[in-house]
Amino acid sequence: MDNEAIVLMSKREIEKMRQAGQLAAQLLNYLEPMVKPGVSTLELNDAAEAWTQKHGAKSAPLGYMGFPKSICTSVNEVVCHGIPSAKQILKEGDIINIDVTPLVEGYHGDTSKTFFVGEPSAIARKLVEVTEECLMRGIAAVKPGGRIGDIGAAIQEYAEAQGFSVVRDFVGHGVGRIFHMPPQIPHYGTRGKGKKIRPGMVFTIEPMINEGTWEVEVLADKWTAVTKDRKLSAQFEHTIAVTENGVEILTLLPDRVAAPV
Ligand code: MF3
Ligand code: CO
Ligand code: CO
Repeated sequence: MDNEAIVLMSKREIEKMRQAGQLAAQLLNYLEPMVKPGVSTLELNDAAEAWTQKHGAKSAPLGYMGFPKSICTSVNEVVCHGIPSAKQILKEGDIINIDVTPLVEGYHGDTSKTFFVGEPSAIARKLVEVTEECLMRGIAAVKPGGRIGDIGAAIQEYAEAQGFSVVRDFVGHGVGRIFHMPPQIPHYGTRGKGKKIRPGMVFTIEPMINEGTWEVEVLADKWTAVTKDRKLSAQFEHTIAVTENGVEILTLLPDRVAAPV
């Protein structure tokens, strides 16, 4: 994948991506209160699909390379691409990543968060908090004129210093009219290496951080990726746009200001 293959978006296109990104973030907010012991991952899927349709969008994962559902639900040792199922009932102490990608007027908004089901164990809480911090440190490393390797280096340094490991087999990606396109964004690596970061680039950063080994296996369903040691894995994802002076997080909602009394 050479530099020519990387799409640089105009202000007008970034506005389209902002609309898709904001809808994606609102969808996660809508789903969050449903994450409770006793709910099935299929119920979360079906709620997400109905909400997406109601807002005039499509669920990009549905049918993408044969993926059978509208969102990915990745519980505990599942690293990513968990398939929602009526048989999978959330229980107290689980962690679940919900990854949504509404397609709005031809543009993809890709974001995910890991939620606690009830009260987490100490190790689950630490893993999830460190993973969110990894995403924010990765985003902070994005500078026009910098290199893609700066992002992974920032993430890997922090994750490993906290005693965790970084998944290698899945990476962030360019996103726009196409769900997955160049450049690839590894969540590990070396500062100063990789392609140059330029204004107009739009890509995801989506670190998957493991409690134990970074190695993963894909189950017989050909989708569900799990940790090889079956210890916990967490993930957070944002879609970002590189601007002239820094970065805009397209899938971050503005802070809700308290209503005036
Ligand atoms: N949303 C995922 C990502 O972050 C991709 C899911 S592809 C699917 O890139 F087919 F599993 F839905
Ligand atoms: Co995603
Ligand atoms: Co993604």
